[in-house]
Amino acid sequence: MKILVTGGEGQLGRAFIPVLKEHEIVSIGHDRLDITDCAAVHAAIEALAPDLVINTAAYNDVDGSESNRAQAHAVNATGPRNLAMATASLRIPLMHFSTDYVFDGALRRPYDESDTPRPLSAYGADKLAGEEAVRQLNQRHYIVRTAWLFSAGGRNFLNTMRAMSDRPQVRVVCDQSSSPTYVPHLAAAAAALIDTGAYGTFHLAGQGGTSKFELVRLCFSMLKLKTEVLPVPLSEFPSPARRPAYSVLTTTREPRITLPRWQEGLSEFVRALESGI
Ligand SMILES: NC(=O)c1ccc[n+]([C@@H]2O[C@H](COP(=O)([O-])OP(=O)(O)OC[C@H]3O[C@@H](n4cnc5c(N)ncnc54)[C@H](OP(=O)(O)O)[C@@H]3O)[C@@H](O)[C@H]2O)c1
Repeated sequence: MKILVTGGEGQLGRAFIPVLKEHEIVSIGHDRLDITDCAAVHAAIEALAPDLVINTAAYNDVDGSESNRAQAHAVNATGPRNLAMATASLRIPLMHFSTDYVFDGALRRPYDESDTPRPLSAYGADKLAGEEAVRQLNQRHYIVRTAWLFSAGGRNFLNTMRAMSDRPQVRVVCDQSSSPTYVPHLAAAAAALIDTGAYGTFHLAGQGGTSKFELVRLCFSMLKLKTEVLPVPLSEFPSPARRPAYSVLTTTREPRITLPRWQEGLSEFVRALESGI
């Protein structure tokens, strides 16, 4: 199969390359294709004629999405719409990634695919608009909601915290929970989903839930870092965007593809850092 990956220089885009190695992968970064450009998207997909498009491009600055409305909406809502229109007209399936931040966090049990999204932030609303466009415009879609991505080489929360580990203490939010997801596990699960050809909306995230405080505490302990990790409530970190207090994801949708537990993802992350991968 020939597979086009958009946003190919991001942490998820790059993780697809080893996972899909039995396929022909064409991975295109932001510098070569801007998904907000409708004509360019159509022209690129028509010229490359892939059997599947995987969109990993996104504007992931949750707080920045509140002030930078035009760019955030263009990338997270209009971009997926452009991809959905082009792929539908060329009869190509589309895999698109979304977020746990489409939920408001009012539940106290893991969110499954049948739960109703109610985003609290501009980022969540834009990502939901992107999902809805894909769902409406291309019937052959895989919409994959995931959460709290981390990988050794990527731009992510754990690497930001590691960069602060020269301090004696770091303060980390303890009253917000979700599903930390190791990016190579997500790419492998998404590849397994593609193999099934089961279209629809799926939650693929590290199994189990935890807070950022517990995640950083365990990560620093595995890395034998001396920095003290202090728990602080979200209310002590005033930020422009509201975030769900609880957005752990689970799946109830066949073919029930599940990822390893988040702690296994963290162990692999630490091994990858230690071996310099
Ligand atoms: N990261 C998380 O914790 C998280 C959580 C839940 C869901 N997700 C979703 O998972 C997916 C993958 O996220 P990720 O962590 O791999 O993100 P990432 O590392 O930030 O990568 C996103 C890529 O998209 C590119 N991009 C931005 N605007 C673009 C545009 N207009 N056209 C084409 N490319 C563009 C970026 O390029 P530049 O850097 O050059 O702009 C970047 O390479 C996204 O859909 C994201 O919303 C992520």
